[in-house]
Amino acid sequence: TKTIKIAPSILSADFSRLADEIIKIEQAGADWVHIDVMDGHFVPNLTFGAPVVAAIRKVTPLPFDVHLMVNNPQDLIEPFARAGADIITVHAETAPHLHRLIQTIKELGKKAGVSLNPSTPLSAVEEVLADVDMLLIMSVNPGFGGQKFIPSAVDKIARLKSMLDERNLIVDIEVDGGINAATARQVIAAGANILVAGSAVYGAPDIPQAINAIRGT
Ligand code: DX5
Ligand code: ZN
Repeated sequence: TKTIKIAPSILSADFSRLADEIIKIEQAGADWVHIDVMDGHFVPNLTFGAPVVAAIRKVTPLPFDVHLMVNNPQDLIEPFARAGADIITVHAETAPHLHRLIQTIKELGKKAGVSLNPSTPLSAVEEVLADVDMLLIMSVNPGFGGQKFIPSAVDKIARLKSMLDERNLIVDIEVDGGINAATARQVIAAGANILVAGSAVYGAPDIPQAINAIRGT
């Protein structure tokens, strides 16, 4: 079984002090930095572009986990790859040519992820399971931090894990939205191994303790 990784989302960081906020989670034991890219169209919020990612790339050696919540992701893959993304995740809902997009990400030497909104069935990724490095199950409707965990995500993760096991595929399962120490237990039991957490990390009085609690150590 895969080891659990914690990917704090800088969506919940203080944007006026982004470098300090990233160093803070690195020192607290974070495994990845989760970067929520929103375009104000696919989701109702607007966040970081590739120049911001290039600027913070100098701050930490931690892998950059770039979650693209944008329409027309094909236009942004190369800019984010050049800016220093390590994992690039696109939403299945935004990509009629998902297979091509995955190949583009891999040709740029990056790990490829595909994400599903809460209402999008697992069948949307069934034909690309062997092509991806990671699947991201959204446990909130994307757009904002601090939302309540949608419990049906647990069964969805369990069903995805069985689909992968049946095919003898070893693929990371990431979960994003409403993750705290309690919901982390449920999604880890279901088969998730990469946990994104925004408000539960940055909103905590003791960040190292919060990361340990989500990891379950
Ligand atoms: C939601 C983003 C998440 C968000 C998670 O649209 O994709 O990464 O920052 O925030 P919390 O952990 O507060 O739900
Ligand atoms: Zn995210």
